[in-house]
Amino acid sequence: MSRITSIEEYHKEYKRSVENPEAFWAEQAEQFVWKKKWDKVLDWNFNEPDIKWFVGGKLNITENCLDRHLSERGNQTAIIWEPNNPNESGRKISYKELHSEVCRFSNVLKNNGAKKGDRICIYMPMIPELAIAVLACARIGAIHSVVFGGFSFQSLSDRIHDADCNIVITADGGFRGAKDIALKSVVDEALKTCPSVKKVIVTKRTNCEVIMQNERDVWWHDEIKKVTDDCSPEMMDSEDKLFILYTSGSTGKPKGVVHTCGGYMVYTQYTFENVFQYKKGEIYWCTADIGWITGHSYLVYGPLLSGGTTLMFEGIPTFPDAGRFWQVIDKHQVNIFYTAPTAIRSLEALGLDFVKPYKLNSLRVLGSVGEPINEEAWHWYDENIGKKKCPIADTWWQTETGGIMISPLAGITKTIPGFATLPLPGIQPVLLDEKGNELVGNSVEGRLCMKFPWPGIIRTTYNNHARCYDAYFSQFKGYYFTGDGCRRDENGYYRITGRVDDVIKVSGHLLGTAEVENAINQHPDVVESAVVGFPHDIKGWGIYAYVILEHERKDTDELKKEIIASVNKYMGAIAKPDKIQIVSGLPKTRSGKIMRRILRKVAEGDFSNLGDTSTLLDPAVVEEIKAGAI
Ligand code: WTA
Repeated sequence: MSRITSIEEYHKEYKRSVENPEAFWAEQAEQFVWKKKWDKVLDWNFNEPDIKWFVGGKLNITENCLDRHLSERGNQTAIIWEPNNPNESGRKISYKELHSEVCRFSNVLKNNGAKKGDRICIYMPMIPELAIAVLACARIGAIHSVVFGGFSFQSLSDRIHDADCNIVITADGGFRGAKDIALKSVVDEALKTCPSVKKVIVTKRTNCEVIMQNERDVWWHDEIKKVTDDCSPEMMDSEDKLFILYTSGSTGKPKGVVHTCGGYMVYTQYTFENVFQYKKGEIYWCTADIGWITGHSYLVYGPLLSGGTTLMFEGIPTFPDAGRFWQVIDKHQVNIFYTAPTAIRSLEALGLDFVKPYKLNSLRVLGSVGEPINEEAWHWYDENIGKKKCPIADTWWQTETGGIMISPLAGITKTIPGFATLPLPGIQPVLLDEKGNELVGNSVEGRLCMKFPWPGIIRTTYNNHARCYDAYFSQFKGYYFTGDGCRRDENGYYRITGRVDDVIKVSGHLLGTAEVENAINQHPDVVESAVVGFPHDIKGWGIYAYVILEHERKDTDELKKEIIASVNKYMGAIAKPDKIQIVSGLPKTRSGKIMRRILRKVAEGDFSNLGDTSTLLDPAVVEEIKAGAI
């Protein structure tokens, strides 16, 4: 794998990757272990879409994450696990041990009926068994679908249904800060409506009481005793599905984004090594949960493919106090630290007293991901955490892109706060105007699209290929549309300006407004609702809900609590509305379309420039909404 070491080299590599993408990516792919080499590097069209990388190649990604490192670094730590409670001892798992544990759990899966192509849902806390479960699925060729442990039973059930999973892997419970969450009981509730699930494998973490259903539920620790650690990797085609990961869209239920084995493997390792400039032996820490794409690509696959040491943290940044991240960095001498702007802003707000006790002198590179990082947070991160010595990689990418797309190469690309800077080699971004014309040159702003595939690109949305086309390839013919607005400045640097569709990035989590509305509408007194985002100091964006009731309720505070409970139940706490305004109507056009633009403005507290409201069915509702704004 070629690692770029200077900005001149970056420009050279970039040029080469655009002029001859196939030769460029073939070269990156050479260094992996392939059971059979590909016949053709790339086959593609964005019209269906139909995208294939390393066509005809055979491999197993876990052989590349584990087996190939054993001779050289079998005793090196692969995973450092830091528990929620700093007084509990953590774990260091070497490559040899990880290989053995993954093989054993692969055999457990097989013993429980799993086979190549099956979909397996993983709903677990951030414990080593989660990474082991992910890798074991990949080893036997089962498609993993990890669902973030903060999602409610309804969200879990929807995802299990959509992917038609036959096995669920979970834990009795999980610790997060001062709380513990009873995961197995959420699974039990979800499975009441999921007849496809035949087995539930449960690992012990909190020792809380669980009800084990005969025949269906088995304990991880019992099953693991029945197997050996001998399990050869299943031979997979480059384009066999590796995993499904659900992400929100502007309409309907979440989409099951599908990534495949060969391209994803090549792309995650290439981007990991180049963006972070990872050097052998360094300790790398990505704070994302494995339930999100960042955890998949840059906690598990990228670092392990590179033979790195990846730190996995079970807890939250503020437990037992707001110095926890910094304590962990000093404790494990972390060299590369990758987190989200929301975490940075929330820790900044709690003050420097939590940072001061720590040296942080092991740090070499900082990363940011998931949402735009505002200048103030960027400087705070740079000065107080990086001590002005660590380059910050502001990495722009998406669940659908598989890996980082636009980002500085740490220490190589000159950074500007708020800019994701330049596209990585192989990435061809374009900015389009509303009509789909390419905006050429610099100092332009438009919709961010990609005009050429890269190995990590989404292949389909599970079980519904038409939806993949509709969501990403239909708006602008011949392009992949990201859903983001973006500016290219006078130097050709990219600055992401935010979403241009009906999804909101709340604390770095992508939420569809339609999904949140659906959860609110489950409350029996709610007739209709409309959800928009508003700028929030810590979370980036907050959730503002306008709600129409069936009949008046005097106990507004109680009602709001019930609505929040409904969102908790049908989606999860991450979608909790920050503000709820009860209204008698919504601003709708005569054709019944909600004018979200007006709702957004009011939610932002900006009552000027509401635009022409005369075309509304009932212009009076705008006055009412303005008067009642929170
Ligand atoms: C946003 C997360 C600005 C963007 C990896 C994108 C960002 C969405 C950045 C994808 C960044 C991600 N600067 N915005 N550095 N990184 N985003 O699928 O709106 O959870 O489309 O993937 O996050 O979110 P997702």
